[in-house]
Parts: sequence; structure tokens; C-alpha cells
Amino acid sequence: MTRGPLFEKLFEPITIGKITVKNRIVMPPMDTDFGTRDGRVTKRHINYFVERAKGGVGLLYTECASPVGPEGIATPYQLCLHDDSYIDGFRELVNAIKSAAPDVKVVLQLHHAGKQTTSEITGGIRPVAPSPIPSRSFMYPETPRELTTEEVKERIEAFAKASLRAKKAGYDAVEIHFAHGYLLHNFLSPLANKRTDEYGGFQGGLKFARELIEAVRREVGWDYTVLVRINGEDLFSEGGITLVESQVIAKMFENAGVDAIHISSGIRESDHPLADMTVAAPQGAWAYMAQAIKKVVKIPVIIVRRISDPFVAEEIIRTGKADLVSIGRQLIADPEWPRKVMEGRIDEIRPCLYCNEGCYDPLFRNLSISCTVNPAAGREEEMRIVKADIAKRVLVVGGGLAGMTAALVAAMRGHKVTLVEEDMRLGGQFKLIRSTRRAEMAKLVDYYEVMLKKYGVDVRVGRKLDEELVDEVKPDVLVVATGSTPVKPKIPGIDRPNVYSVFEVLSGRARVGDVVAIFTCSYYCPYTCAKGLCCGSGYAAAFTAELLASQGKMVYLLAERPEIFSGMYVTTRPRLLKRLFLMNVKISTEVRVKEITEGGIVIEKGGVETPIAVDTFVYAVGTKPQKPTILEALNGKIKEIYEVG
Ligand SMILES: Cc1cc2nc3c(=O)[nH]c(=O)nc-3n(C[C@H](O)[C@H](O)[C@H](O)COP(=O)(O)O)c2cc1C
Ligand code: SF4
Repeated sequence: MTRGPLFEKLFEPITIGKITVKNRIVMPPMDTDFGTRDGRVTKRHINYFVERAKGGVGLLYTECASPVGPEGIATPYQLCLHDDSYIDGFRELVNAIKSAAPDVKVVLQLHHAGKQTTSEITGGIRPVAPSPIPSRSFMYPETPRELTTEEVKERIEAFAKASLRAKKAGYDAVEIHFAHGYLLHNFLSPLANKRTDEYGGFQGGLKFARELIEAVRREVGWDYTVLVRINGEDLFSEGGITLVESQVIAKMFENAGVDAIHISSGIRESDHPLADMTVAAPQGAWAYMAQAIKKVVKIPVIIVRRISDPFVAEEIIRTGKADLVSIGRQLIADPEWPRKVMEGRIDEIRPCLYCNEGCYDPLFRNLSISCTVNPAAGREEEMRIVKADIAKRVLVVGGGLAGMTAALVAAMRGHKVTLVEEDMRLGGQFKLIRSTRRAEMAKLVDYYEVMLKKYGVDVRVGRKLDEELVDEVKPDVLVVATGSTPVKPKIPGIDRPNVYSVFEVLSGRARVGDVVAIFTCSYYCPYTCAKGLCCGSGYAAAFTAELLASQGKMVYLLAERPEIFSGMYVTTRPRLLKRLFLMNVKISTEVRVKEITEGGIVIEKGGVETPIAVDTFVYAVGTKPQKPTILEALNGKIKEIYEVG
């Protein structure tokens, strides 16, 4: 196995407390909700984490656990470790990880949701907090109950006892979660801690945190590794924990006997652009926070957030901004990231899109995680790719994401695969993302191109499905993945020359003027928006608006439905809307476009008709499937025909 010399620092071992970690790559705690309703480990956890351990990560966090049972869970199926009967389940998980990857170090994060939960999730227990101040996020409407001084001390003990249970279960370390707006973070936050007892205010919060670490140490001893996760900054436009306060907090933790500080940032309602979880935020953008913390402590510092580019990861370590890098969603998307980087196979990494569609957002809809680009995430056994008993000739028509995936999986299973695409480039509509400010997401197309080549798929671009092709390839199996075409809204004037589909704009085929109206989220769209399910036209409209506004154009974003982008969910939608607002995009909902005229459009809102002067009209109102015309003629000629996408 050869190590890419470019990533020397990333693969240097490091000592944290009593453990030596084989490299600088950390999989941070990420709730999966694969647990049972009473918070126990399942086989699904085991398969999922074993796969990630085998991928070569140095420090692996399994999902967080509540030390107080249901009161502390943020999602319904989160794990718990509030009594000894839970230890065996965790032990089984750790043993499975260690037998698959003996050199990986395993950490358990202990977490109390505080006010960032609901009575529904906790099974009827009212959320608790240092002070009865509700979260500013609409997701947590209840005013939390203030913990009494006695109850605060009980919670401290609960963390200590759960830490000992983690040690008994075989974990190499525990991490105490002081970040992200949960209970322990709230004790340190000037906005959330208004107590008047010994734990009140910033000094009281520090006392609370110190006593908690002392209690943990009393239980686990000094021969065990203890980490904390804190926010470098809360990333509010006003208020919240600042970097200077975090330096004080970090120093206090070091003095209290903590072995490493894991820097994260933000809470649910953080409104700073750096809190954006998508590709709109730069890679490694939070490294400056770790750098500031490293100035005041000598123990190792870990940094997280949007680090999937191995060059960025190496640079962070090499320049001493942090000692380890946490790579979260990218390890859901491709658990083999560490191994591929180590072996210099960077172009074979399946990139995370940072979309949150499969992983983060479902948690807020009480669903377990999955992944947009990795169907095997959380279904490792069912989706394992195995060699087929009989190798077949497979013809895939359509080189969009669905077609490329079908072709790749078929080839990995040992079939002889031909992939044809009418366009001169692979990627279907998705490749158009390259021209937006989200171009990083197009790495997914690059990944497929590399992998199709690696697995010997015969890729033919600029080629249509016809009888001649079928006669030549003689497929046993035909996979039709010919995608869709945009729905054209039936608006008078829609055939004017200054009217384009969003795809025409993104493909550079449109002559876009200076004042543009983009019409989306309309009843013309054949799909029904559901929470957490955007048909894609919303994204196309949003990214086009973002692109055109960044070019200095005046952009109207008009939605016919009462809510724009209602399918997008909590971790992306609010920040996207704010971003568009800051770019001066004019968003209006419940708007009907009555007519497209020579000088603009006529809209109707609330029964009032208004003309708006625009020079370009763009629509993104859903798509409809398109099928090759000769498909019916092929029935009977090819044994198996499947339609995908
Ligand atoms: C599905 C999911 C669950 C998460 N659960 C937790 C958690 O339980 N505790 C925690 O501290 N952070 C949690 N996080 C935050 C991650 O640890 C990490 O900080 C975040 O994903 C940013 O890193 P990334 O950009 O590399 O994904 C979660 C993130 C995701 C996507
Ligand atoms: S669902 Fe999206 S953000 Fe989450 S891991 Fe998969 S690609 Fe990344």
C-alpha cells in the first residue's frame, strides 16, 4: 500500500491522553437514529460503523448517547446509556468495530439535548435547560423547564456514571458534548444561562463544566481519555459564545484534565453565512477557530466542518491550525475516504454533496439517516455489491446520474456494460450544476466518469438508442435512464424568444438580460412538495437565482404555491432563503403569472394584477419523463428491460 506523499501529515500518528491514534482523521459523532425507541444498539449500527472503521479512519465516534435516558434525546431513536443494562449493546458494537479494524480508536459522545428536543421525542418529558428561555428555532416551540440546583448536580453525576459505562463497554475514550445549543452548551452561553444560583452566568457555567469533568474523572480515573466538544463560536450575527470566551472555556477544560478539544460551531438557529452547511460555505472554513484555541492550550485540537478535500485537510494539519480533522458527512458518503487518500486514489472518492437531504434533514423528521449518493449507508448488508452468477450484456441508455449508477453497479457485479448518452458529455441535467456557484457538487459526475472507466464500461457519448445499436450490442438487459424534460407552463406568451427553461439558462443556451423573473414552485409542476422532498426544480431555480444575482442581475423569484422551496428542509432552506435575500433577490409567493408580454410579465397576487418589467422569463416548474420512441419496438427483442431514474 503506497501512501500519497502529498498527505504525509494526515497519516502521522498522534497521542491523545492515553491513546495513540494511527492518523489525523476523525469521524465525528453523527446521530443515525438506527436505535430502538428505548435507545439500544442495533445490528444496523454495527454494520454501519464497521464499514466506516474498515475505511481507515483513525478516531471513530459512534453515535452519541444520552446519559439520562429519554430526557436527553434529541431524536426519537437516539442511543441511551443511563443504566447498566445498556452496556452490553455498546460492548457488542465496540467489539465488532475492533475485530474489523483493530487499530481504530473508538469514542462515545455523551450528549443531553436540553431544550433542543420536544416532549413528543422524549416520550412526554418536558425539555429542560439552565433557564426557561425557549430556543429561537421553530423546531423547538416549548419553553424549557429550569433545572433546580439539585437537578443540575444529578445531571453532572449522570454524565460521570455514563462515562464509566462507556469505559466498561470497551470505548477508548468519551467525549462530553458542550456544543451546538444543547444542555451543556447552554450553561456556557450568556444568552441561555440566566441562573441566579452557583451555576449562573459565565463564571457559574464554567463552574458547572469544571465540576462535570471532575466528576467524570472521578469515575473513569486518570488512565482514560476524555475529550470535550465545544463551539468555537456560536455564529450568531449578535450575541452567543464568542471565540474569546471559547478560549477561556478551552483553557479551563485543559486545566480540569481534558485530553483534547473538539471544535465545532453554530447552533440550530445560527444565522451567520459560515453556519451554512452546504457547498456555499468554503471547505475548512472553521479552521481559524481551532487555530485560536490552539494558541491557548497544549492538548490536541480537532476541527470539523466541510473538510472533504484531502489537500485542505493536509494543509490544516501541516500549518498547525488543528491537530486532527473531523470528516463527517463525507464518511457517510464514502467510508473509504481515508484509505483512498492514503493510496492516492483521490479521484475514486465518492463525493459528499453536502446536501443534507439523506443524512441530517431526515433526523428532524424522525427518520433514520441515509445518503443521496451512497445507497448503502445504513444498509451495508442489503446493498453490498456482489459478483453476479451469470455475466450478462447490459445496455444502459442515458448517462445522467441514474444511468451512470446503473452502469457502474452492473459493471462492478461483473456484467459487460455499454452506456450510451445522446449528449456529448455524461451527467444529464446534474452536470449543469457546474455552471452555478455550487460547482463543487459536479465532482459527483467526475467520480462516475473515473469509476466507469475503471470498471471497463464502454461509454459512448453523442449516441442514441436505435436498432443498429441493439443489433451490435445484443443486450440481454436494457436499462432505460433517459431522464426527463422540463414541464412548460401554459402561460400566454410562453413561446416568446426571451423565455427559457432553467436548464437552458444553466447550459448557457439562453441570452439572459439584466432583469430576470424565475417562476418556480408552481401548480404546473406534476410533483407534490412534501417536507424534506424537493423535486429538484426548486434547487435549480434557487441556484440559478443565486448565479444570476451574483452576476449583478436583478432577479425576481416567483412562486405560485404559498411557500417557496417547501420541500427543502430545516438545515438548508432557511439559510438559502437568507442568502438569496442578502443578494437582493426579490422573492414573492402565491403569485400567478397571467401573461408574458413584450416588455415583461403580468402577475396576479391577492386578486390584484400588476405588470413587472423584465427582459427574461425563466421557468422551473418540474419535469416529465422522456422515453426513447423505439422502446416499444424492442419489447420481445430484449429479455429484460428496466426503467430507472
Ligand atoms: C446526520 C448527522 C448527525 C449529527 N449528529 C451529531 C451528534 O450527535 N453530535 C454532534 O456533536 N454532532 C453531530 N453532528 C455534527 C457532525 O458531528 C459534524 O460536526 C457536522 O456534520 C459537520 O461536519 P461535516 O461538514 O464534515 O459533515 C451530526 C451531523 C450529521 C450530518
Ligand atoms: S445525504 Fe448529502 S450531505 Fe448527507 S452524506 Fe449524503 S451526500 Fe453528503
